[in-house]
Amino acid sequence: MAALKGPPYNKSHMADTKTVAPKEGPGTRFWNWLTETQVWTSVFRHGRPDSDRNRVLVMLSNVFLHLHPVRLRKSGVKLRYTWCMGGLSFFLFLSLTLTGLLLMFYYRPTLEYAYTDIVGLREHVPLGIMREMHRWGAHAMVITVWLHMFRVFMTGSYKPPREFNWSVGVIMLVLTLLLSFTGYLLPWDQLAIWAITVGSGMARATPFLGHEGPGAQLLRLGDVPLIHAYDDARFALLGGSFVGEGALLRFYVLHCVGLPLVIAVLMAVHFWRVRKDGGISGPL
Ligand code: HEM
Repeated sequence: MAALKGPPYNKSHMADTKTVAPKEGPGTRFWNWLTETQVWTSVFRHGRPDSDRNRVLVMLSNVFLHLHPVRLRKSGVKLRYTWCMGGLSFFLFLSLTLTGLLLMFYYRPTLEYAYTDIVGLREHVPLGIMREMHRWGAHAMVITVWLHMFRVFMTGSYKPPREFNWSVGVIMLVLTLLLSFTGYLLPWDQLAIWAITVGSGMARATPFLGHEGPGAQLLRLGDVPLIHAYDDARFALLGGSFVGEGALLRFYVLHCVGLPLVIAVLMAVHFWRVRKDGGISGPL
């Protein structure tokens, strides 16, 4: 009450004007206490969006609501400009993360169980829905990311000031393909084993890091070469010199933990840059 300013009131005056004090139950008191704690105010930096100022603060400080900047070019929200391919890629990534997590409850990455677990997921789950959503979602994401990159290229959006975000995008494209590649081995069928045998063979030719790659011969101490078939990039990828148990485990960890973590961090950087670069580009 000390904070109230105005003419001094006496009880009879209050009774005349019939002022009704707002009811303050234990729920309201708890809510007021909660929203003033340091923990709450460090997470939510705005009040309820009931004024223009608070509405702007909500938009500015919420990464999901502020995925697009507060001010937008009309073209930026037109489907025929962006094709929504970036948004679709993000949606597919989220859905793949969710279905992938569910698959982790059932799939065991060992030579004994990998194949039978996948067959089980296909045969015993109605319509094999979980695995099919993950598999088709992965195919779709590769397509949407390519189309997104194509749109960005065709609208000249790789030019300054967006060249940094283009580079982040290129890394994400590589990571998307690596996610597909590592996931391909997990069913442990003949197709998977031989496809990864051929694919990982390419790591032999990585510049400097593959023992048959350009520059590998330059990495030597005197007469002793530093990169061999048994410690080069292919060996690191497979955890051995052929596609076996070590490869299956490494691909599993890379597929479920390593690559998704890196791409998720890069996506946050990507969206933040879209905002910082002045929102989605305009037509050429
Ligand atoms: C891997 C998944 C990716 C996701 C989830 C993603 C997501 C997005 C989203 C949501 C936008 C906002 C505009 C839009 O939807 O078109 C965007 C813009 C942009 N992206 Fe991506 N992106 C990905 C990959 C890439 C790739 C591969 C490149 C290029 C190599 C790229 C380069 C850009 C650039 C330069 C912009 C700004 C475009 C503009 O201002 O018009 N992104 N991205």
